[in-house]
Amino acid sequence: MSTTRKRLFIKTYGCQMNVYDSERMKDVLTPLGYESTDTPDGADLVILNTCHIREKAAEKVYSELGRLRPLKEDKAASGGMTIAVAGCVAQAEGAEIMKRAPVVDLVVGPQTYHKLPELIAKAHRAKGEALDTEFEVEDKFDRLGNDRQVEGYSAFVTVQEGCDKFCTFCVVPYTRGAEWSRPVDQIVAEIRALAAKGIREVTLLGQNVNAFHGAPPAGREDEGVWGLGQLVRHIALIGGIERIRFTTSHPRDMDEDLIQAFADTPKLMPYFHLPVQSGSDTILKAMNRQHTAEDYYAIIERLRAVRPDIAISGDMIVGFPGESDADFEATMELVRRINYAACFSFKYSKRPGTPGASMFNQVDEAVKSERLAALQQLLDAQQIAFNESMIGKTLPVLFEKAGRLEGQLHGRSPYLQSVHVDAPAELLGQIAEVKIESASRNALSGQLVGAKRSAA
Ligand code: 5AD
Ligand code: SF4
Repeated sequence: MSTTRKRLFIKTYGCQMNVYDSERMKDVLTPLGYESTDTPDGADLVILNTCHIREKAAEKVYSELGRLRPLKEDKAASGGMTIAVAGCVAQAEGAEIMKRAPVVDLVVGPQTYHKLPELIAKAHRAKGEALDTEFEVEDKFDRLGNDRQVEGYSAFVTVQEGCDKFCTFCVVPYTRGAEWSRPVDQIVAEIRALAAKGIREVTLLGQNVNAFHGAPPAGREDEGVWGLGQLVRHIALIGGIERIRFTTSHPRDMDEDLIQAFADTPKLMPYFHLPVQSGSDTILKAMNRQHTAEDYYAIIERLRAVRPDIAISGDMIVGFPGESDADFEATMELVRRINYAACFSFKYSKRPGTPGASMFNQVDEAVKSERLAALQQLLDAQQIAFNESMIGKTLPVLFEKAGRLEGQLHGRSPYLQSVHVDAPAELLGQIAEVKIESASRNALSGQLVGAKRSAA
């Protein structure tokens, strides 16, 4: 294995699962002598880790490849630049990418990036061979191991991949394949290793994370597969881990045990992302969500009953085919009733190969834009009100890095809010109580109270 120093630039698009995958790609490439840089200029290897979820996300890849072409030409005389497309566009478009953008040397899907070393060697021999978009999740995690290079105190850990739900707007079942869960022991080993490196907070990731059904720990096989609630409680026992989160969930997979985990596991943060997409039962049906707006309210009410301090975030789509003014009003009504702490909202985007793309009753772009603006105005107001409701409260804050101003640290509240506090650097990686004094749309600030800290 060559260990000459080489420069690696990875650009990550899309969701947290891609953020995790990009980190793991770095782990795989470090033994080959690659070191990260923060510019593609002069890099030996450039990886675009792509997202296919909406049209705009997918298009960004091709414009970025256009920008990389002159950089690759400049680098030709000094060792050359290898350009790789990874992630969900790679999975969806495969060899087409190399045809459309000859600047690309290799294409690797989300399940096979552990083979990057072999693929890079192949690309250097003959570029046509350097494509791997098979689905072999099990093999991937076995090969990746637990030696992660992490910075800071918070880390993502993929526990589940893929989706079998086939919402009619969504490409994920096609790009990430069938639902699959990692075995509990494998996850725990990864998190133990992270805790030993100073990680205090883990966010468990999966496209359908609450559908988690992993093989139980060794010696407990008679218990059958474990659900997410069991996994969360088990992770809460790992020394050093103070906070647990998970994302993204589907209302259909919300079982009572997971709801109970919010009640009985203080380390599970009281902040829950549960996308609903629409407040209209007609649209939910057309989206094949397999639940009604009432089902969604019932879950949120149950959660609020067992964990009164819980706050909810979500995802919404406006302008799905067939969405009438009344359907949109039902979405606005649901948002008013739920009162989100934060919520992402998107205009429906036709994705090739999904049932929604060929529905005849597509909504006008202008109507979509109008609805999105109205929805975002409401959601912004809710987010600001939520942040302002923190003023006067004392929140545990996990300090993550130096703040913008001298003597300040930046941390996160249980609700993932950024919190700016005057605090000594030795509080980095620790949880301390902060009395919140002011709030804006995107951040809080306050003062340290007493010496109450975590044992971490
Ligand atoms: N158009 C618009 N938004 C979409 N999402 C997924 N597919 C589409 C699409 N075709 C949104 C959903 C999902 C989030 C990750 O992206 O709200 O929850
Ligand atoms: Fe985008 Fe979905 Fe792929 Fe994440 S899994 S990168 S959201 S297409």
